[in-house]
Amino acid sequence: MRVMTAGPRAQSFDVAAAQYAVNRPSYPSALFDCVEEFAGCRLTGARVADVGAGTGIASVLLRERGADVIAVEPGEAMAGALHQALPGVPIVRGDGNALPLAEASCDLITYAQSWQWIDPGRSVPEAMRVLRAGGALAIWWNTTAFDVPWLREQHQRIAHHCGVKPRSAVRPSDSDAIRLAGLTGLRVTRRQLRWSRTVSLDMHLANIGSRSAFLVLEEADRHAFLVDERERLGKSFPGGEVEETYVVDLLVALRA
Ligand SMILES: C[S@@+](CC[C@H](N)C(=O)[O-])C[C@H]1O[C@@H](n2cnc3c(N)ncnc32)[C@H](O)[C@@H]1O
Repeated sequence: MRVMTAGPRAQSFDVAAAQYAVNRPSYPSALFDCVEEFAGCRLTGARVADVGAGTGIASVLLRERGADVIAVEPGEAMAGALHQALPGVPIVRGDGNALPLAEASCDLITYAQSWQWIDPGRSVPEAMRVLRAGGALAIWWNTTAFDVPWLREQHQRIAHHCGVKPRSAVRPSDSDAIRLAGLTGLRVTRRQLRWSRTVSLDMHLANIGSRSAFLVLEEADRHAFLVDERERLGKSFPGGEVEETYVVDLLVALRA
């Protein structure tokens, strides 16, 4: 949940928009109950900007809750996939660091798995400008459940293969999570929600392959990891299905 600097990884998703849309995990219903509780408003009828909306995985759930959603997404292919899935949702090609939205025009701004690509020094003031008084900024991530041994070990293999630092298995405290997200000084509440989904091995590997750390690798490097991983997991899960367990880490910051 650390905020990273923008760069090739932030823009990498566009090369795999279709793969992303089909294979990435969604979010549990309890997450949206919690957003309503912390934001102090119902999603039904709320004006919501879903920023870094990607292919619309969160936008569709916000819509199902009755929100009036506008999607903000910089990537052309991601925005195209969103438009196909949700033709009724307006999409603005834009950046969370400079939101193309009017002052006080939203009740809620959401960043589902996308806050790590922006600069909080710019995106926090932008969110506060676009929110009405009393509105809320909700950011969340599906994080790895490190207490599940095969997921923890896989996380380490991925980090090693992609040359990135593995995350600590120890979850940050609330104050560290708020600081790391660049939300210090705001009224913030946090909740972590565990959930899982059972998917085929094919879908699991396609999900992994759609992560930014892989998308910036050479095709041969990406392929080599996935071939090894298929063989390894095939032995551990001979039924051809795996249970991916996630902990959604949610932070909601209120505008004064
Ligand atoms: C991991 S995807 C998350 C997509 C979607 N919200 C979801 O829940 O699946 C991250 C998205 O953030 C977008 N993104 C990257 N840099 C951004 C920025 N500066 N402002 C807004 N979105 C950005 C990417 O194009 C990508 O679609």
